[in-house]
This record gives sequence, structure tokens and C-alpha cells, in this order.
Amino acid sequence: MSESVLVPVPEAIAKAALVNEAQYLDLYKSSIADPDAFWAEHGKRIDWIKPFTAVKDVSFDPHDVHIRWFHDGTLNVSVNCLDRHLETRGDQTAILWEGDDPKDDARITYRDLYERVCKLANAFRELGVKKGDRVCIYLPMIPEAAVAMLACARIGAVHSIVFGGFSPDSLANRIQDSECTLVITSDEGLRGGRKVALKKNVDTALEHCPSVKTVVVVKRTGGAIDTVEGRDVWYHEITANQPAECQPEEMNAEDPLFILYTSGSTGKPKGVLHTSGGYLVYVSMTHEYVFDYKDGEVYWCTADVGWVTGHSYIVYGPLANGAISLMFEGVPNYPDVSRFWQVVEKHKVNIFYTAPTAIRALMREGEEPVKKHDRSSLRILGSVGEPINPEAWTWYHRVVGEDRCPIVDTWWQTETGGILITPLPGATKLKPGSATLPFFGVEPVLVDAEGNELSGATEGNLCIARSWPGQMRTVYGDHERFVQTYFSTYKGYYFTGDGCRRDEDGYYWITGRVDDVINVSGHRMGTAEIESALVAHPKVAEAAVVGFPHDIKGQGIYAYVTLVAGEKETDALRKELVAWVRKDIGPIASPDIIQWAPGLPKTRSGKIMRRILRKIAENEFGALGDTSTLADPTVVEDLIANRPQA
Ligand code: WT7
Repeated sequence: MSESVLVPVPEAIAKAALVNEAQYLDLYKSSIADPDAFWAEHGKRIDWIKPFTAVKDVSFDPHDVHIRWFHDGTLNVSVNCLDRHLETRGDQTAILWEGDDPKDDARITYRDLYERVCKLANAFRELGVKKGDRVCIYLPMIPEAAVAMLACARIGAVHSIVFGGFSPDSLANRIQDSECTLVITSDEGLRGGRKVALKKNVDTALEHCPSVKTVVVVKRTGGAIDTVEGRDVWYHEITANQPAECQPEEMNAEDPLFILYTSGSTGKPKGVLHTSGGYLVYVSMTHEYVFDYKDGEVYWCTADVGWVTGHSYIVYGPLANGAISLMFEGVPNYPDVSRFWQVVEKHKVNIFYTAPTAIRALMREGEEPVKKHDRSSLRILGSVGEPINPEAWTWYHRVVGEDRCPIVDTWWQTETGGILITPLPGATKLKPGSATLPFFGVEPVLVDAEGNELSGATEGNLCIARSWPGQMRTVYGDHERFVQTYFSTYKGYYFTGDGCRRDEDGYYWITGRVDDVINVSGHRMGTAEIESALVAHPKVAEAAVVGFPHDIKGQGIYAYVTLVAGEKETDALRKELVAWVRKDIGPIASPDIIQWAPGLPKTRSGKIMRRILRKIAENEFGALGDTSTLADPTVVEDLIANRPQA
């Protein structure tokens, strides 16, 4: 349908862009023809203490998966994000902070940021944090979050950020898995005018986390907190008397930079491990090319640092490039639904990067809230996190961007570290809903269920045929799971878990996950995690969770629940179960629909047939496919007859 629409590159953008169409094609070709030469060249974009001579050492062979880039080089990531800018742009804004309350904002220059990072890094060292130790960051969107990340990087500690919306249980699991010794949090968070009890959540989580020796607390709201003597310290007290300089740790390119937990199709969330050199090269390069970033521009990524987008494209990429990175504490609809555009006008934002779910929600509010603010500063728009439907794309382009701003629809994953498939603003004609073409050095491959590579215009499972510097290196503490999850399904490839179509022009169209992962408002959830939360309830015998199309969230969470014999299927219990999951995992995991299921469709060997459950959730009863292998086909009729209408 929308495949025929080709939105040309605006003349003004093409002329001034870092790369135009011909240059993209040339560079892409050379990046694939001689990747080592290509990356040896671009690896120099960051400052090395000891320059690398080796470019890569990679194997995707399931018997011996290893991924190393620039591995005889040494560097410090915080030096690249701070020290090297001091001479040229010490007084330029690094972080432009916009608070939840529109009256609250702050400009932090590169020099300020450098000093804050050094002070906290010194304080961390004094508290006994050493190179390789894990530090958990559980903070709201305040500058201290970036300061904490960079302070870890400065002393070689590995940070593990947990999104502030996760429950104490989820926080505890993540702290335990990587045995963090220090947690940094704030008294409370502030979002949409509401307080979030972060310190209280930490206190609850730490009842089960013996590895944690210290909790550093940032005073954000001044709300009352409990203090554990000998464990809890105030951020402002431990940093007050520290020197504003701090000797950076010399790190090998392959020393870990951070762990970030993400949901998979089975089991508990896995700790995605990213290392230092390759990651920084890749995120700084993609930030510059994908957003066509020019010195002095105000760049705003609306993500939270709790997700990989915040790591790569609020902190590490932009700061490595000496950019002005806007950091927003609030939400799109507070104080009202024009907040994004009010901030764009106030700070003269040039590049704006957000998620389709936000666009769809704002689209419902009409054009007025957008148009009442001056958006003439905007040059480039971006989208990330889930497929953007052509309607939302067109609205974003026409209403927000006044038909003059290219949209970069960036496809990537926590695992990929940075953007892999994306338009470049000055080079790529756009198609609404398509992530378009691969970035330099990235070789996408579509395979069928048997792993045969498909050519031409086709649809299949999206794999990547070769490594890129930002690729995750392992699952923290479980290399076997890394190999199993990504390298054993299709031999010789990295398997993304996404389905994808390639059209006649070679453009890629991500169709969504092909595994048991769902994408709710751009947040990734494992259906298995929600199921295990549900069955932990004493009244639940069995549960099966699937995604279903949701107008705003992209996908909603649909749970089929079988109760323990004798329990009543009441609305009160439905509410109780939603609250139960919320408490166990966090608000983002709340089921949208719970259907009582006296039985679940199973094969004779007892396997739940999710394909059928998905179809019922999608309201597509005509397309159930073959149900003859079911142990009891009447189960399906009952589920169809009783499907709740949302
Ligand atoms: C999954 C990764 C990328 C950082 C935020 C999410 C989906 C992501 C797009 C896009 C279509 C997209 C994929 C992917 N996804 N970006 N532009 N178009 N789908 O990171 O939580 O690791 O989720 O998000 O399904 O596998 P994540």
C-alpha cells in the first residue's frame, strides 16, 4: 500500500548533510567490501589511550561464539564524553535538563558535567568501588543519572540501570543477578506531577540483596525516607568535599561498560553486556550520521535512561560527539498534551527523537496542541522502539514536521547497542512505515524457517550476517544463553527475533517479533515473565499471555487465566490479578485484558497452542488454522464465545 509512496530528501537537508545518496551508497559498499579497513578508519573517531592495531576477532559459530573489536586498544569512555571537549567546548551546554514541572530546568556545561562526574567518581572510589564492580542505578531522569553512568565509566565500574518503573522485586532480581555492591537512587522521582517512591522500593528490594553494601541517595523532592545506618549516604554529602578531578581508569576496549536487563522469550530477563571501545565508536558514529548532527544543535531524545535508547542516544553517543543533549524528566501529557511542543519551542530543539506510541497518543489529541507552539527550529525527526504505522508516520511528518523534516525510523535492539537499519536524513528517500536501509557495515539477511537465505523482495526472519562494533558481547554470567538465544537458530547468523519484509527497492519493513516477546508502548516484555507472575497468585492454576493490536500501545497484554478449581471468576479478582502483576513486575506489565479460560488449547502432548490464542486475542476467529491436533477442540469454541470486548 504505502510502498508506492516515496518521500524525497528535502533539497536543503541533502545539500548540508554529512552524506548524500551517492555517498551513502559508496560508503556502504566499501563498508561491506572491506569491513576491517572501514572500521579501522572509523575506530579513530574516539580518543584512545593506546591505539588499537587489531580491528576485530569475531566468530558466530555456535560452538565458539566470541565478539571482540579493537581489542588491543585502551581508552576511557568518560574521557571521551568529557575531558576531550573541555578545551573546545567547556562552556557549551552538555545536558540541557527540562524538569517535570515546566518551571524547572537547568543547563549543565561540559565543564560542570566533568566536575560533577569526577566528584562522584572519587566518592565511589572512597566507598570502595573498584574496576569491574557492578553498580546499580535506579534514578529518575535527572542529570545525576548521566553523572552516575559516567562516574562508573571513569573508574571502570560496570553500571546496571534499572528503569524507575520497575517494582522492588524486579529491581532485586537484577541486583542479585549481577551482584551489585552499590545502588544509587533518589528519595523520590517526579513524573507527571506524581511522586514515585524510589528509595522505598530500594529498601524493599535490598531485603533480599546481600551483595549491596552502600546506597547513595540523591535528594530530588525532599520527601521523607527511611535511612539505614551504615548503608545509606547522601549524594550531596559524599561529593561535597571531593576534588573536581579524578584520574580515569585505563580500560581495555573489551572491558565491560554496562549491563542492561532485557526480556526474552523464556525465563528471567537477561543481562545484556556491552563493552567499551566498539560500543562507543558505534553509538557516536550512528548518532552523528543518523541524526546528521551538527555542532551546536539541540538534540532531544525523549527516552528514559533506563532503556538502551537512553544509554546510547541520550548519554554516550551525543556526549562523545560534544552534542547538546536534552534530558526530560516528565511525560508527554503533563501539564497538558502540548508539553513536547512547548519544550521544542522553549529550547529551540533541532532534532527530536521519540517513540511511535507517543506519536499515536498525541495524534488523538488533534493538531491544535502541536500547532500552538513554534516548531520552526525542528530539522530532523526520529522514531524508535516499534514499527511506526503509516498513519502515525504521516501525521508526525505533516503536523509535527510541517512536511519539511525527514523522519529517521531507526530499527535496533538492546542487544545491538546502536541503530542498525535506518534512513540517513540527507541520503535516503523515505517510505512511511519502513526503517529503509542498513547502516554502514550492517548486513541484514532474511531467512526462512529452515535458515535458508532468501533473496530479492521477500519476507522472513531478520538476521544479521556479520558483527558490528556495538554488538552485545554476552549475557552476563550466562554465555551459553547468549549462544542459544542468538546464534543457534540460524547457523552463522545473529538472529534478531524480528520478522521482516524486503521490498523491490531493497527497503526493510520490520513486521514485529516472531518469538514470545511483545512490545507494549515500545517496552519489551516477555510473555513468560507475565505468566509466571500470574501463576504465582494462589487462585491461579494456569496462565497464557499473548499480545494483541492496541491503538496506542502498539501491542496490549492479553492474559488467559485458568483458576484453581472452586475459585469464582469475578471482576474483583480480575482487578486483583492486574494489581498483582503490576506489583510483581511494574506498571508496564499490567494486563489490558484478562479472559477467564476454563481450559487452554493444548496439543495432545500438553503444549499450549499460542497461535490460536493470538488469533482469538486479535479477534480473528476465522483464521484459526488447523485445530485438529488439539487435545480438546471445544476449548477453543468456549474461548471464542466468551472473548471479552475491550
Ligand atoms: C525490539 C527491540 C531499539 C531501542 C528501543 C527498543 C522493536 C525497535 C523498531 C523500529 C520496528 C522496532 C523490534 C526490536 N523495534 N525499533 N524502528 N521499527 N520495530 O529496544 O527493548 O531491545 O526492543 O523493538 O521488535 O526487536 P528493545
